[in-house]
Amino acid sequence: MKKHYITTPIYYVNDVPHIGHSYTTLAADTLARYRRLLGDEVFFLTGTDEHGQKIQKAAKQQGLSPKQLADRVVENFKKLWVKLDITNNYFIRTTNENHKKCVQEAFEYIYKKGDIYKGEYEGWYCIPCESYYSEIEIGEDKTCPVCGRKLDLVKEESYFFKLSAYQDRLLDFYNKHPDFVLPQSRYNEIKSFVNMGLKDLSITRTSFDWGIPVPFDDKHVIYVWFDALLNYVSAIGCKKGEFNSIWPADVHFVGKDILRFHAVYWPAFLMALDIELPKHVVAHGWWTVDGKKMSKSLGNVVDPNEMIEKYPRDAYRYFLLRNVPFGLDGDFSESELIERINSDLVNDFGNLLNRSLTMMEKYSGGIIERPEAIEDDTLSTSAKDTFDKVKKDLEVFRFDEALIDIFEYIRKVNKYITEKEPWSLKKAKKEDELKEVLYNIYAALKFISGVISPFLPDAASKMQKMLAIDKNHKIDFYLDFYNIEKATVKKEGMLFERIETEKSKEEKTEKKEEDKRISIDEFFNVKLKVAKVLEAESVEKSRKLLKLKIDIGEKKPRTLVAGLKEFYKPEELVGKYIIVVANLKPAKLMGIESNGMLLAAKDGENLALLTVEKPVKPGASIS
Ligand code: MSP
Repeated sequence: MKKHYITTPIYYVNDVPHIGHSYTTLAADTLARYRRLLGDEVFFLTGTDEHGQKIQKAAKQQGLSPKQLADRVVENFKKLWVKLDITNNYFIRTTNENHKKCVQEAFEYIYKKGDIYKGEYEGWYCIPCESYYSEIEIGEDKTCPVCGRKLDLVKEESYFFKLSAYQDRLLDFYNKHPDFVLPQSRYNEIKSFVNMGLKDLSITRTSFDWGIPVPFDDKHVIYVWFDALLNYVSAIGCKKGEFNSIWPADVHFVGKDILRFHAVYWPAFLMALDIELPKHVVAHGWWTVDGKKMSKSLGNVVDPNEMIEKYPRDAYRYFLLRNVPFGLDGDFSESELIERINSDLVNDFGNLLNRSLTMMEKYSGGIIERPEAIEDDTLSTSAKDTFDKVKKDLEVFRFDEALIDIFEYIRKVNKYITEKEPWSLKKAKKEDELKEVLYNIYAALKFISGVISPFLPDAASKMQKMLAIDKNHKIDFYLDFYNIEKATVKKEGMLFERIETEKSKEEKTEKKEEDKRISIDEFFNVKLKVAKVLEAESVEKSRKLLKLKIDIGEKKPRTLVAGLKEFYKPEELVGKYIIVVANLKPAKLMGIESNGMLLAAKDGENLALLTVEKPVKPGASIS
């Protein structure tokens, strides 16, 4: 059986990995996991692009040889992929001997065929992008149409690839394979680029030497893109007979900036090599950070290592894949990431598992059993529908849509629980019905753990452990909804923890205040009455207390002790109509029993008694 072959671009080693690199790799990893879930054998390739002027320059600046720089930086990529649990089957470096040999063989093959010839090239060259640009593309100011930097006018002897000879064959191929480039908008863009006419491509350089030498003319090194693109075949054996179980590639994932190399040059090189073309080249958009382009000078480069130290790696992965329609540009903001964690991962997903397992443990000792008959199979039907949708989404690489569909199902199961009210079934002792409902929920969770595993692998395996099912089942197992006869579930912690932010803390305090609010009945439990002060005197040895005798409309006056000494002289109080809480239990203050409490306003410095505006009968109630 042919393996499903998925690739990422190979990353330049002049820079440390950032969110953009991790995005391409995470998308590819998700697809690789998904294809394995379907039962395919997968070959998933990533690696590093280590030749070219850009690397040579960066190494020089750091006082290193290009190979030393590459050896150092490659570790950053390898370590990050381990930390992100990327499941690549191989990691290619273009400085590998077998890669170099493969590139030289390919060069020679095309040369012998007559589609590589020697000439002289003059053109506008962008060193960081390792690319020449035509006059039409660069406009008046001679800046790079991709990165915006100043271009150099370069003239050199060069070998050329007869790209122009492939224009019609390419157009014919695009027409026959309308899904070769995805999304559709990018396909149209590539077609019109080729329609405008293709010029032959300079594919060697003499101005620097950090590259693979032309086998029969070592004054020249091979252009880094010719070198780099060939990694996709050199990694799997280079020659046709050798790589038949893997080639053609099913999907090359790339960023939109490098689409042209993959959708125009690469197929033309392959045609020249008489090698079958890949099935899809899928281009994603560009990430900005808080609305700005990521750049070292702005200091806003997002380091994936930092993100996964702060947040679960599943959450980082979820955010990147869910927040932006695959293919479009996106903006990274940490606050949006937190919002996604709290709303989708904690509230919807984590909470579903948590509440379900709590009920299962409480109502049936964690034991789930298949009932004799299932009367309501709505969750099973909609699981199948959900998977059909996910499948369609992923056929066109819409990771965001697939996640939307899975989360719609999660919400459906939450709703099922709310509607079926297992707690009421338990109370009403409807044991058979309860058994069916819990079993349905269990089967739905089992399905979710499977379908979500390519996207949230950590959460899926935690979940599967709690549900007592083995990892690594194929999708058929999850879709066979009622295949588990009996299982014992065990709740072990939460899938995701809520992230507290300033905003969520504020909301919590507001909520607390709201929780403290009382009903009108509670308010009227407090009996407030008007009282006339008959006598007032100082309590001996007390700094604060005055003792009052008050008339509250009862047969006998009451005694009340209050902390007024610092604010009122006793004689000022006599005759005032004050307000007291009349139904308070008595309390002893400095040995005197106080029967009630008077009301006063306090602002930190002053204290003012609450009195009535005009005399009323003592004992009048406050309403
Ligand atoms: N070495 C070439 C690829 C050769 S493939 C035969 C290269 N390397 S790169 O390191 O510059 O970029 C690799 C990938 O990272 C590209 O897919 C690119 O689109 C992606 N990203 C780099 N910055 C990005 C963002 N800010 N946002 C999203 N992805 C971006 O190109």
